[in-house]
Parts: sequence; structure tokens; C-alpha cells
Amino acid sequence: MVALLDAGDLFGRTSGRTLEARLRARYLLSGMEQLGYHGVALGDQDLQFGEPFLAERIDEHQSLFLSANLFAQVKGQRYTTASRTLELRVDGDSTSPPLRIGVVGLLDDEYAGVVRESTRLDGVALELRAAVPEVEAALAALGEVDLVVLLSHASKSSAKALAGKLSGVDVVLCAAAGSPPSEPERVGDALVLTGGYMGKWLAQLTVGVGSGGGVASYEWQRVTLDASHADEPQQKKNYDDYLADLKSRADELAASVQQKVPDTGDKYVGAGRCGGCHAKQKAHWESTKHAHALESLAQRSQDFDLSCLPCHTAGFGFVGGFVLPDRTPELGGVQCESCHGAAGAHLADPAVKPAGVPSEACVGCHTKDRSPNFDQPTWLPKVQH
Ligand code: HEC
Ligand code: HEC
Ligand code: HEC
Ligand code: HEC
Repeated sequence: MVALLDAGDLFGRTSGRTLEARLRARYLLSGMEQLGYHGVALGDQDLQFGEPFLAERIDEHQSLFLSANLFAQVKGQRYTTASRTLELRVDGDSTSPPLRIGVVGLLDDEYAGVVRESTRLDGVALELRAAVPEVEAALAALGEVDLVVLLSHASKSSAKALAGKLSGVDVVLCAAAGSPPSEPERVGDALVLTGGYMGKWLAQLTVGVGSGGGVASYEWQRVTLDASHADEPQQKKNYDDYLADLKSRADELAASVQQKVPDTGDKYVGAGRCGGCHAKQKAHWESTKHAHALESLAQRSQDFDLSCLPCHTAGFGFVGGFVLPDRTPELGGVQCESCHGAAGAHLADPAVKPAGVPSEACVGCHTKDRSPNFDQPTWLPKVQH
């Protein structure tokens, strides 16, 4: 049998207060419920969802969220359950005693400020108590178990420090980033490991059961969740439902898009206004993938997913910039102004020259995650006109 665990920040690094983030969180949680997840630590980003949204989700998914050291000040009680004991059996064996796995969640002390801030915003007084004593108490309350897993919402270095201070912990799963995630490390008797982030990898622990029950051995393996793994049909449907739901709320979504004034004080006007004077550049640009970047999203019905739009459109989130495909199709794709900056002033008076393309313009979108093979010296000539 399989246990599925997560070290927190389930819903991505976005502000949890947007419509999109909240919708995504609901669908993600029902997907995790369908998959049969057994426990997740509450992460600092999860707290940004605020009350009452978070409390409702915790209520809906009672035994999923685990946090030993997050307390509701008023009641002096834990905000979520601290731990859970799983009973797993070897597939096909119903007679041997089950393997008992104790799982405890924690939020690293370094997030005390985030907890205070969410208290300030929501008026629900939360308190982050020091992790070590609270986890020790939760471990003591576990009773007899064969394996103890700590879901530690902490960086790898913090997780290692914690592992050094706690006894009786076998595995520490931490929330560390890194692409690909780092190798596991031993600290005393504990194995500290991470499954990375953005759902790109899985840290798989295969536990060998001794003849008289109990853990005989465990082995670690990293699984890269790339295209070689087919979509699980129920999860695919859940995701498609989410995309359809997003699209059906286009009015609400559009209203939620905040448009800032760019640092230059200018505004976006769109590539349709440039070709009259820059026919050569326009023709070249149209031959590049940049011009068709919104189509890549539309082909997958992901063109209403706000998290994709900043890199696949022009000026998303800025005055005059892209909003949604059904409102501002003319600003779809990576356009002139994505590299040259908002050009409203230049359009009004060509003597006002757009700022040169800054050297960091590309890597704002061509990040390590999204464009692992990006190489500026060889890729730049492909976009120059
Ligand atoms: C009415 C004609 C006109 C329009 C419309 C126009 N430009 Fe220009 N643009 C010019 C002129 C004139 C120059 C300066 C001469 C040159 O370098 O070709 C220029 C120069 C530029 C330069 C080079 C600046 C430099 O430092 O040399 C960029 C980049 C540019 N335009 C981008 C744009 C973009 C993006 C748009 C659409 C939003 C646009 N232009 C629309 C006329 C225009
Ligand atoms: C606003 C975000 C954004 C900026 C800025 C940006 N790109 Fe891109 N770039 C993309 C996206 C998105 C794609 C993929 C488009 C698609 O296939 O749908 C892409 C594709 C490319 C490709 C085509 C890759 C291929 O597989 O053929 C090249 C080359 C490229 N970009 C180079 C650059 C360079 C060089 C810069 C900086 C001068 C730059 N890009 C700036 C978002 C951006
Ligand atoms: C941080 C910027 C960024 C974000 C956010 C982003 N992309 Fe992209 N995307 C890129 C860049 C850059 C490329 C070009 C990658 C390359 O060729 O190296 C790209 C390429 C693509 C492509 C074409 C290449 C392929 O893999 O087939 C698709 C499809 C795509 N992105 C979908 C998405 C979707 C869906 C989302 C949102 C869930 C998204 N992107 C969010 C920057 C981004
Ligand atoms: C992916 C980034 C990117 C996009 C998209 C882009 N440009 Fe450029 N453009 C550059 C770079 C890089 C240069 C070289 C000069 C520099 O570094 O400032 C350049 C140069 C120019 C120049 C100066 C003359 C020349 O040809 O070198 C003009 C004018 C210009 N671009 C207009 C446009 C227009 C109009 C569009 C849209 C139709 C556009 N650019 C789209 C990156 C881009």
C-alpha cells in the first residue's frame, strides 16, 4: 500500500486572496482527496489564504492537514491536528500486522512573522509556537509505531537542524526547492529528503517489512513526473473541470486583474500599432514562436489560467496590457513591448524612443523552471530582427 504525504504550500506561490488561487486550491484538494493523500503540513503560503477560507478547507479535509506547533490563541488549542497514525499493509497480505507509520507536521519557527501577519489581516489570532517542544510532545503522544515521518515545512538546512534536535524520527520530508531537488542526507538516524516543488518530482520511499512485522529497510528513489507518466484519468478530469470553471467565471476573473502603472510611467498599446512604421521587425516577429505564445495556451484550454498569462502575453497586470483572451486578444503572445517595454509614449511621439531591451529581459520569462535549455548568447540572435 502507498502513503501520500506533502510538506506544505500545496497551492503554489501566489497570493491566496485571489479568486483563481482559491478555485485552484479547492480543485487541488479534491484531487488529493481522490488520490487518497494521508497528510500534508500547513505551509506559510497556505496561511496567506486567510480566514475563513483556510478554516473551511481544514474542516472539509479533517485529517489531511497536520501541524504540531500552530495554535489558535483564543482556545489555546492546535489549529489543526498535530499527527496521524497510518496503518499500511503489504499488498495482498491481510493476515500480518499492519505497519504503523506516525506522521507529524510542523511549520518552521522562521515563519512566525507570516503567522503574525495572517493574524493581523484576518483577525483570527494564530500563534506559532517553537517547533521542537511541540513536535516532541506530538511524538510522545504517537505511542507505538514502526516508522516516524516528520512533514516539515522548512528549508533543508532548517529541517536538518530539527532532525539533529529530535530523537525517534526516521524520515524528515522538507519543503525545499531546487531543480532538480537535492539528494537526501542522513542526520543521526534520520533521513532528510525533499520531493522538490511544483509537483515535478516525487520522493519515493520503499519500505521493506520484516518477517515478524516492523520496518526491515527503506530505500529512497526520486521519480521525475515528466510526460512519460500518463495522466491519471480522474485527475485529468478534475483539472479539465478546473479550467472550464475558470473560463466560466471570465467576468469575475477579469475584474480581479489589477493593472499597475509600469515603472516607466508608460502604458501598453499592443503590437498591432507598431507594424505601420516597423514592417520589417513586425514580419520577423510574426515568424517567431513569441507571436503565437497565447495559442500554445489556448490549444490546451489553459488560456484563462492567470498564472500562465504574465509570460505568454503582453503587459499582463499593467495598464493597457492583456487581461483575458475574450477581452484583449490583440495583446496575446509575447509582443514587442514584452521586450522593449510599454511604448505608449513612443506611439504618441516616435521621437520618444523606447528604452533598450535590458539584458535581464529574457530571463524574467525564460526561468530555469520554464525554459531549462535557455542560453542567452545563442537564443538572442533568433529574436533580433
Ligand atoms: C508612427 C511611426 C511609428 C510607430 C507607430 C512606432 N514607431 Fe517605433 N520608431 C519610429 C521611429 C521614427 C523610430 C526612430 C528611428 C528608427 O530607429 O527607426 C523608432 C524607433 C523604435 C525603436 C528603436 C529605438 C532605439 O533605441 O533605436 C523601437 C524599439 C521601437 N521604435 C519600437 C516600437 C514599438 C514597440 C512600437 C509599437 C508599440 C512602435 N515602435 C511604433 C516610429 C514609429
Ligand atoms: C514575456 C515573456 C518572454 C520574454 C520577455 C521573452 N520570452 Fe522567449 N519565449 C517566451 C515564451 C512563452 C515562449 C514559448 C512560446 C510558445 O512556443 O508558445 C518563448 C520562446 C522563445 C524562443 C523559441 C524557442 C523555440 O523552442 O524555438 C526563443 C528563441 C526565445 N523565446 C528567446 C528569447 C530571448 C532571447 C528573449 C530576450 C531578448 C526572450 N525570449 C524574451 C516568453 C518570453
Ligand atoms: C515564468 C514564465 C512562464 C510562465 C508563468 C508560464 N510559461 Fe509557458 N513558457 C515559458 C517559456 C519561456 C517558454 C519557452 C520554453 C523554451 O522553449 O525553452 C514556455 C513554453 C510553453 C509552451 C510551449 C512549449 C511546450 O512545452 O510545449 C507551453 C504549451 C506552455 N509554455 C504552457 C504554459 C502554461 C499552461 C502555463 C501556466 C500553467 C505556463 N506556460 C506558464 C514561460 C512561462
Ligand atoms: C524577444 C524580444 C523582442 C521582441 C518580442 C521584439 N523585439 Fe525588437 N528588438 C529586440 C532586441 C534584442 C533588439 C536589438 C536591440 C536592443 O538590444 O535593444 C531589438 C531591436 C528593435 C528595433 C531597433 C532596430 C532593429 O531592428 O534592430 C526596433 C525598431 C524593434 N526592435 C521593434 C520591434 C517591434 C516593432 C516588435 C514587435 C513587432 C519587436 N521589436 C519585438 C528584442 C525584441
